[in-house]
Amino acid sequence: MKRSKIHDRNKLIIECTQSCNCPNSCVNQVVGSCLGKINIECSVRKTEKMGYGLFAERDIDEGEFLGCYLGEMVIHDPKNPGSYIDDAYYFEYFTEINQYLPNPSTALYVDARKYGNATRFLNHSCQPNLEGFHAIINFDKDNPSDSQLPSIAFFAKKFISKGSQLQYDYTSSYWNVMNSQGVFCNCDAKVCHYSYKKFKNNKK
Ligand SMILES: C[S@@+](CC[C@H](N)C(=O)[O-])C[C@H]1O[C@@H](n2cnc3c(N)ncnc32)[C@H](O)[C@@H]1O
Ligand SMILES: [Zn+2]
Ligand SMILES: [Zn+2]
Repeated sequence: MKRSKIHDRNKLIIECTQSCNCPNSCVNQVVGSCLGKINIECSVRKTEKMGYGLFAERDIDEGEFLGCYLGEMVIHDPKNPGSYIDDAYYFEYFTEINQYLPNPSTALYVDARKYGNATRFLNHSCQPNLEGFHAIINFDKDNPSDSQLPSIAFFAKKFISKGSQLQYDYTSSYWNVMNSQGVFCNCDAKVCHYSYKKFKNNKK
């Protein structure tokens, strides 16, 4: 698969840290206390039309934290797709950071192809039950620029019943590129925005 992906992720969570002097009861250390693990019982299963997917093994309440997208940080030029082998597990980090890269036409991605956790199996849905946020888990208020890069953290957007597939919105910029290459969304949403049928109707 050769394409560029631009995910819009502009929602930022700043969590408390040890240096906040918060009491042990502080509830603002959810992502930071998870250390890259998956926080909710779930399983990887084969789907009918989307390859493998991640499924809830218990009911999940709205707002529960699933886990972070993990992988290798890679820099690629989306206009030069031949420079990488497989971008199926790319998650574009956040576009604002790209201006700090040495070559302004390149972009920073988290690539879960070789290294990652089960969030690499999260498929797209046009009616998603998860939402991704950027979470800074070691914010240093005296030296903000010393803080590490944010993590990409997935939370339940609504109540999710046991057995449901866990999915987030890959965004229109992802699907615009995919649709233009003849790849279409196979999600089960009542209203799918990026199906072949929708694409054909929009062309009329
Ligand atoms: C991050 S991977 C998700 C896991 C993948 N299904 C697997 O088996 O490894 C992204 C890939 O999953 C597939 N995919 C995800 N959501 C999809 C959807 N709504 N419709 C069709 N394919 C989808 C596409 O092949 C996409 O490149
Ligand atoms: Zn706190
Ligand atoms: Zn869809």
